[in-house]
Amino acid sequence: MLVTGGCGFIGSAFAKRAEKAGHRVVVLDAMTYAADPQSLQHHPEITVVRGIITDSELVSSLLVAHNVDTVVNFAAESHVDRSIADPGDFMQTNILGVYALLRASAAYLEKKTAAEAQHFRFLQISTDEVFGSLGDDGHFNEDSSYDPRSPYSASKAAADHIVSAWHRTYGLPTITTYCTNNFGPYQYPEKLIPHLIQCALRGEAIPIYGDGSNVRDWIYVEDHVSGILLALERGVPGARYAFGGGNERTNLALAHEICTLLDERVPRHDGSSYAAQITFVPDRPGHDYRYAIRETRAERELGYRPAHPFDEALRETVEWYLNRARGTVASEVQR
Ligand SMILES: NC(=O)c1ccc[n+]([C@@H]2O[C@H](COP(=O)([O-])OP(=O)(O)OC[C@H]3O[C@@H](n4cnc5c(N)ncnc54)[C@H](O)[C@@H]3O)[C@@H](O)[C@H]2O)c1
Repeated sequence: MLVTGGCGFIGSAFAKRAEKAGHRVVVLDAMTYAADPQSLQHHPEITVVRGIITDSELVSSLLVAHNVDTVVNFAAESHVDRSIADPGDFMQTNILGVYALLRASAAYLEKKTAAEAQHFRFLQISTDEVFGSLGDDGHFNEDSSYDPRSPYSASKAAADHIVSAWHRTYGLPTITTYCTNNFGPYQYPEKLIPHLIQCALRGEAIPIYGDGSNVRDWIYVEDHVSGILLALERGVPGARYAFGGGNERTNLALAHEICTLLDERVPRHDGSSYAAQITFVPDRPGHDYRYAIRETRAERELGYRPAHPFDEALRETVEWYLNRARGTVASEVQR
């Protein structure tokens, strides 16, 4: 199994579970700022290759050398704010990178027998952000129309269409999966949950965009990984599957939940709540109001159900970031 972007947040969680499930895993990762080499450090059985997915020659050589039968593409520039400030890398990796992976995979399959080619899967990790923004009601599912708003979501949407074209035009056995906002260990601290924790522990303002009313449906990363594994085991080529968490929260409510957990675990010296550090900042341009996924083909056809209760998973996640922060920000926590 070739896992691209396998040193990133979700990719590393997936690589470890896939390896545990008996797959031989090769990770290809550019090791951008978002990669965390520590995420795979206790897994020497996972081969890690440093390189970019736009390098078709490298991808082709890995496919052949490891006799790959599954490509799972997590590699991406993934942060919306960065895509607004500087979209170039997003277009390069998220669009041209996917094109290069598809081209290499299709060429590789041409040299395989029909049976081997039928067994092959190319799974593209997409996002619910390609569907745009919901109002107060309704949910996204696999049949929602594309309506991306940010450079990030537009680049992911472009990639999905290219993946679909490679399935329809060249018969590549592709699967596309969508998911809501993931949380868990090893997420780069620019993303909401680790960012809020870090700001709280450092005694800094906990920044909340706008009035904090934007809603996200949170999925624990291990539930997302279970969904991807189900899609590989039971999914049909050409199909799309969407994984939700069933945990809708406004950003403000989430920030308060995190503050309450921190209040219990590392009380501020004056006994007041970390919530006092919550500060509203000017909204992100084009900020999507709400994302949520429900009533999906993934539930009906793959038997996907999120297994981790949100409160428990959030508590464990906060604990993990606290453990990681000890030693680096421990003295600041005491302040
Ligand atoms: N995190 C979420 O909540 C979320 C939600 C929906 C979809 N997704 C999608 O899931 C995938 C993984 O997201 P994540 O949060 O783990 O991202 P991440 O930013 O944590 O990790 C991305 C990984 O890709 C690698 N990478 C970047 N450019 C590369 C290139 N050109 N070649 C090879 N590797 C490259 C990085 O080094 C990093 O290890 C992305 O495709 C993202 O769009 C994420």
